[in-house]
Amino acid sequence: MEDMTYWKEVWERKGNSNTSCLEELDGYEDTTANVKEIAAQIVKELDIKETDRVLEVACGAGGLAQYINCGEYVGVDYSTSLVKKHIQFLNNSVLHGEANDLIFKDKTFDKVFCFGAFHYFPNQEYAMQAINELKRIAKEAVFIGDLPVTSHREEHLLYNKKDFKDWNITDGYYNPCRFNVSLKL
Ligand SMILES: C[S@@+](CC[C@H](N)C(=O)[O-])C[C@H]1O[C@@H](n2cnc3c(N)ncnc32)[C@H](O)[C@@H]1O
Repeated sequence: MEDMTYWKEVWERKGNSNTSCLEELDGYEDTTANVKEIAAQIVKELDIKETDRVLEVACGAGGLAQYINCGEYVGVDYSTSLVKKHIQFLNNSVLHGEANDLIFKDKTFDKVFCFGAFHYFPNQEYAMQAINELKRIAKEAVFIGDLPVTSHREEHLLYNKKDFKDWNITDGYYNPCRFNVSLKL
């Protein structure tokens, strides 16, 4: 699906729903995902320390962020309503922005991650731009999680493990049709 507007509208609507449950705002309500457990696995995979500066791209309302303990956390998301909710509930530094065009200087953050968002991107070119941005902004390591190989939704952009040759590849945390990749820089 080349059109960006479909998912953008979905996430804008999601952020306007009348709930204070961050997992629900971030779209996990109909999944088997244990968000607290996923956050713990990302912390382990990236070796996030209490002194680290961490950027989460496509951070939503903070479903994962609520469980991440680090020196400085910054989030970015393209849904203005979810950015508002994230700030309202967690008081984190969260900016409105797109994954393929981030405003930060090179190597601003020790660790950079993006979970549960790459399948909402419009095409592979956009995904490549986003990967380059994550790598550019990170000093030590990058993690991208929840990349679908197949999906029940035809609107989801799909990925191939073969395209991540230099990356460490692991199984999806809650969905066997998905995988994660990480890179030490
Ligand atoms: C399933 S939620 C995941 C949120 C958070 N990472 C978590 O796991 O709790 C997907 C998020 O990706 C965001 N998103 C999707 N495409 C994006 C893009 N191109 N740029 C920035 N944010 C995007 C959506 O607005 C939404 O907040």
